[in-house]
Amino acid sequence: MQNGHRSYDTIHTDVLIVGAGAAGLRAAIELRQSGVDTLVLGKRKHGDAHTIWAAGGINASLGTRDPEDRWDIHAADTIGEGHYVCDPRAVEVLARQAPERIRELHEWGCPFSLTEDGEIDQRYFGAQSFRRTCFAGDRTGEAVLHTLVDKAREEEVPYREDVYITGLVKDGGRVTGAAGYDMDTGRYLLFAARAVVLAAGGLTSLYRRSSSRPDENNGDAAALAYEAGAALRDMEFVQFHPTGMTEPAEMDGRLVTEAVRGEGGRLYNAEGERFMERYSPEHMELDARDVVARANYREMQEGRGTPDGAVLLDISHRDPEYIKERLPKMYEQFMQFGVDITREPMKVSPTAHYAMGGVKIDFDTGRTTVEGLYAIGEATAGVHGANRLGGNSLAETVVFGKVLGDHLVETLGEAPEPQPDKEAAAEQFAGLDTLGPDGEHDPRDLVSELRELVWEHGGIVRTGESLREGLGKLEQIRRRAESLRVPGGPTSPEFEQALNLRFMLPAAETVLRGALLREESRGAHYREDFEEERPEWQETVLYAKSGDGMELWTEPLDGISGEIQQALEEEYSLDYHYLE
Ligand code: FUM
Repeated sequence: MQNGHRSYDTIHTDVLIVGAGAAGLRAAIELRQSGVDTLVLGKRKHGDAHTIWAAGGINASLGTRDPEDRWDIHAADTIGEGHYVCDPRAVEVLARQAPERIRELHEWGCPFSLTEDGEIDQRYFGAQSFRRTCFAGDRTGEAVLHTLVDKAREEEVPYREDVYITGLVKDGGRVTGAAGYDMDTGRYLLFAARAVVLAAGGLTSLYRRSSSRPDENNGDAAALAYEAGAALRDMEFVQFHPTGMTEPAEMDGRLVTEAVRGEGGRLYNAEGERFMERYSPEHMELDARDVVARANYREMQEGRGTPDGAVLLDISHRDPEYIKERLPKMYEQFMQFGVDITREPMKVSPTAHYAMGGVKIDFDTGRTTVEGLYAIGEATAGVHGANRLGGNSLAETVVFGKVLGDHLVETLGEAPEPQPDKEAAAEQFAGLDTLGPDGEHDPRDLVSELRELVWEHGGIVRTGESLREGLGKLEQIRRRAESLRVPGGPTSPEFEQALNLRFMLPAAETVLRGALLREESRGAHYREDFEEERPEWQETVLYAKSGDGMELWTEPLDGISGEIQQALEEEYSLDYHYLE
């Protein structure tokens, strides 16, 4: 097919899944098992997706260790940790269905750590009333993803690697496909589909320090949906994990799993004080992530961190063999840089870890607010509210992957044959053609500047003044981004960076604008100028493109069901001292 001066390939499928992590694959397996024509696209090689870096575990109220656990207590913990701005229906679906999805993963061969009786073992994780987090050592994401990849191969799920999707294509009000290019050959590609599913992850690479893999989580899914006219929600809520590595430089921000604390790890400041006794004497290191992350941050801000900007996480009081068995990845990750965690503490500091915000969907179907467009996994918003429980993101991927698959199996027949608008496709490709060697600014410099800006102005502690300043700086980057210098063609790293920047700009704007609008502190969103949680803000913030600008508005949340409300009123919570 010829588009002006560039030709492109057109590929037809019924369901196009953009993103090849756990959520995308789980949906694809469901579709394929029912004979639906499906194509999964990944930016990397088959089997290589961000899920691999998920570490500590996946939640389900199996009750292996604590038989008194129930789905409704899992839901209550999720809503409590989300500071009452989770979507109650989303939480109910997650907590009810997680046990079945995890048993299914086990049946499909997922190498979960087992108890002596052969049951799926469960460990403590932060802010959970019971041991509910299933795990495979501290490589749970890798174990889950490999299981899904093997299953997808067994089901012969079609997969195309090295594809970068740059925009969605619409016909009238309906999404009918997606445009992009092959990162390996540079060939432009147009996909025509009855349903397009965004399973392309979150946006924490907007931050200078993050636990994300390089060049991933740039807000792709949110930006693609936003540009296509879909509503986003909760973008102001970004989770900072309390413990990211601080050295060497290439490991800065890399996740130090919560499982270290779940297995008894303790935090100390440079004065040797176990400072969580001051911040949270009852829950200690296993309080909610936002509480522990802010405690670490405060210790450093107030001069009690190490001279090189860290606090210390120590698990060396536990038996070395136990550490190596339960935390093999952490042991290796530090050992390769000469730190033996069975004998000495780890230097850690907060790192941007997860976007609670994303595309607004309906949780019984995966539908976005635009016809033909669906989303699942970290790309979406609503399950986790203002802060996510560790272990809930992996659970979310498999639960909502299956929900979406089921829905499409039932309803896809009603969707029209895709007629991608050729003009719209041509516009997408013309946008790629504007990237060339004659521009003024190196996209890599602008990406670094943007990441610094979001870290500084939209980070752990925010103020109205700083957020406004951040928005001003973002506008300057946006102007400079109109003239990018991209000397290599579509297979060059600069080309990819230029496109990443195109996604990062609107994604960063939503985070800063939402954080400015929400004049309170709630969960991971902490405003130094509005330190209290305010009842009138127990609402969700929505975002949509409006003309050339961005529109923000708030909506009330649905009511919580009787069973979950009852569990909330029973006030379960973890007493940290069980661990001691
Ligand atoms: O710390 C961790 O292992 C992270 C888990 C999660 O974010 O779910």
